[in-house]
Amino acid sequence: MPCTVVVGAQWGDEGKGKITDLLAEQADVVVRYQGGSNAGHTVVVGGETFKLHLIPSGILHDHVLSLMGDGTVIDPQCLAEEYTGLRERGVSCQGLRISGNAHVIMPYHIVLDRLQEESRGKSVIGTTLRGIGPTYTDKAARMPQPVRMWDLLDKDVLRERVTGQLAEKNKIIAALYGADPLDVDAVVDEVWQYVPVFGGHIGDTRAVVFDQMARGANIIFEGAQGTYLDLDYGTYPFVTSSHPVAGAACLGTGVGPTAIDDVIIVNKAYMTRVGAGAFPTEQDNDTGQLIRERGKEYGTTTGRPRRCGWLDGVALRTSAKINGATGLAVTLLDVLNPFEQVAVCTEYRVNGETLTMMPGNLDLLADVEPVWEELPGWQTEISGCRSLSELPAKAQAYVARMSELAGVPLKMVSVGPGREETIMV
Ligand code: IMP
Repeated sequence: MPCTVVVGAQWGDEGKGKITDLLAEQADVVVRYQGGSNAGHTVVVGGETFKLHLIPSGILHDHVLSLMGDGTVIDPQCLAEEYTGLRERGVSCQGLRISGNAHVIMPYHIVLDRLQEESRGKSVIGTTLRGIGPTYTDKAARMPQPVRMWDLLDKDVLRERVTGQLAEKNKIIAALYGADPLDVDAVVDEVWQYVPVFGGHIGDTRAVVFDQMARGANIIFEGAQGTYLDLDYGTYPFVTSSHPVAGAACLGTGVGPTAIDDVIIVNKAYMTRVGAGAFPTEQDNDTGQLIRERGKEYGTTTGRPRRCGWLDGVALRTSAKINGATGLAVTLLDVLNPFEQVAVCTEYRVNGETLTMMPGNLDLLADVEPVWEELPGWQTEISGCRSLSELPAKAQAYVARMSELAGVPLKMVSVGPGREETIMV
């Protein structure tokens, strides 16, 4: 294991939280490398459900150091609420370390996210409205004096930063969007009230990772969102503003590529997507509705119903390559229990051509026709299975086909939400 990246192979919501939580039992460190409170990781422990947006899933294990790396963006209100909620439920949160270099999602970023979405009209992205895009935009634009986590430790510094930021942001908010400008004191006070909750956990996470690597620690790099929401490798522009792919685990935490030993891609037994954008295997019909109801496919962060469809082997195969996968974790296999036949897309057809990989020009995705393969369904309850051989033969054949399409060995199969409802291969 020593350094393992856990990354979503689809458009997010693959069940990475559960997989990370399971691997965290053997881990010393779990570090999140990108994204912010747009993520929603649901972990079920002993019948109790934990919904995490920002704090790495490792936090549910007391022995694990849970780091939020330099590449993340952090909403202080969300962090404080999540932290307090966990503490109230008996989670110590002692191992939490937050990078001082992570950029802060400020109230004006959230206002701008909404205003930008409203102004997009038909081209709306369907963001989570959590301020993700505007925060990463400021980071990439090298705005003078943006607010980073270090800056929250001194109220005077915070005020100076906010004053500088609002001098520009308020012009945009008022002149471009005709909305009400924000008040410096109100923004500072709003953010400052949350700092005492987590301020003691802010520090140099890169140093912690280096130190742990030197000790030979088991480290999990936890991705948020998924491969096809990546700013470069996703279905642009219907993507998030960071890089969920495995390569970004290095950028977002400070380690070099040679440090990574394993990459586990997580793929559901079917596909889902939230927000706008192409989705070749979408089933906007009774099949999709049954998957949605059985998989409880409603956003953890926004509550929005997710679009659902059959497994896309082209997307899976491509994802395995983009992430340099060494293993596959299949989640939510039990959702497909009732189906008599299960369809899998193995190739795309477009403009008379057959594609086995996602097209480089993802604009083509809107026009592709899936080539379907039908597999027999297993029509049996499987949540009690604890080994591959206990799965019905047809379900075994299905996950074997997934592994074949991905071109990487099967490592885990999840047959229910609980920690114990998992097959380790
Ligand atoms: P943003 O990350 O809020 O800017 O949203 C950009 C796109 O990514 C939208 O289509 C969102 O629905 C999608 N998105 C962001 N985070 C997640 C996630 O954790 N799961 C699934 N979709 C997400």
